[in-house]
Amino acid sequence: MILTKSLGEFKKAFESLPDKESIGFVPTMGALHEGHLSLVQSARKKCRHVIVSVFVNPTQFNNKQDLATYPRTLDADAALLEKEGADILFAPQVEDIYPEEDTRIFDLGGLDKYGEGPRRPGHFNGVAQVVTRLFDIVRPKYAFFGEKDYQQLAIVKYFTKALGYDIEITGCPIVRESDGLAKSSRNTLLTPEQRLAAPHIYKTICKARELKHTLSPQQVIEKIKEEIDSNGLLETEYIEIVDGTDLKPVTKWSDSDNPRLWCAVYARPVRLIDNIAL
Ligand code: PAF
Repeated sequence: MILTKSLGEFKKAFESLPDKESIGFVPTMGALHEGHLSLVQSARKKCRHVIVSVFVNPTQFNNKQDLATYPRTLDADAALLEKEGADILFAPQVEDIYPEEDTRIFDLGGLDKYGEGPRRPGHFNGVAQVVTRLFDIVRPKYAFFGEKDYQQLAIVKYFTKALGYDIEITGCPIVRESDGLAKSSRNTLLTPEQRLAAPHIYKTICKARELKHTLSPQQVIEKIKEEIDSNGLLETEYIEIVDGTDLKPVTKWSDSDNPRLWCAVYARPVRLIDNIAL
């Protein structure tokens, strides 16, 4: 694997790849865990070459503290990627990605209206800025994103198509710890007590699959919220039930044949997100 830490280094490494028509790309912000590695494995299966980026993108953070404390573990990331058989690790500097301020505003098809959108203003526009920039540099045929960020995946699919990129976007299932907690780089920021409490999120949201037979979507949301918050270390920011395709709220079950519950829960100051199909 070639580790490149600037655009210049990346371009040189890129030129050495013999088959540029078969590049699979896994964009990440580093602090890699098995969730990311499952994306790399999917890319490996489908493509001759795998390029992984590690870049903590400042334009998608609307909270300075979150950006400052985001875990950065490049040496460990490189070792993991080497083992997974990635061809190039691209770990650029901010100036490589944003030689000047990026003022582009993207059409996100209204898919940012609920969920993370209103809670993290500008977040998905920042994701679109960095992902399009990376697509232009890496020029992949396939790109891989995790379903843990379900809304992000839908939005990336939308703008990739709308902007005419010839890139197939593949969503990969959430990878969970044995106790059900969705793998996340932010899990490393939890205290031992919070780490013990955190699986309560997934255990509780799974109950929605039963509750939906007797309660309305709104009642399910209230019940799940009450149960998550009954754990003193957890505090629900939001729970929504949306259609898994248009990402609009489901107010009655007959609204959607593909309902999805998504949520954000604080184990302060750490913010955890999760989602499941109902
Ligand atoms: O999902 C992430 O890690 C990031 O949002 C992404 C897609 C790498 C863009 O910075």
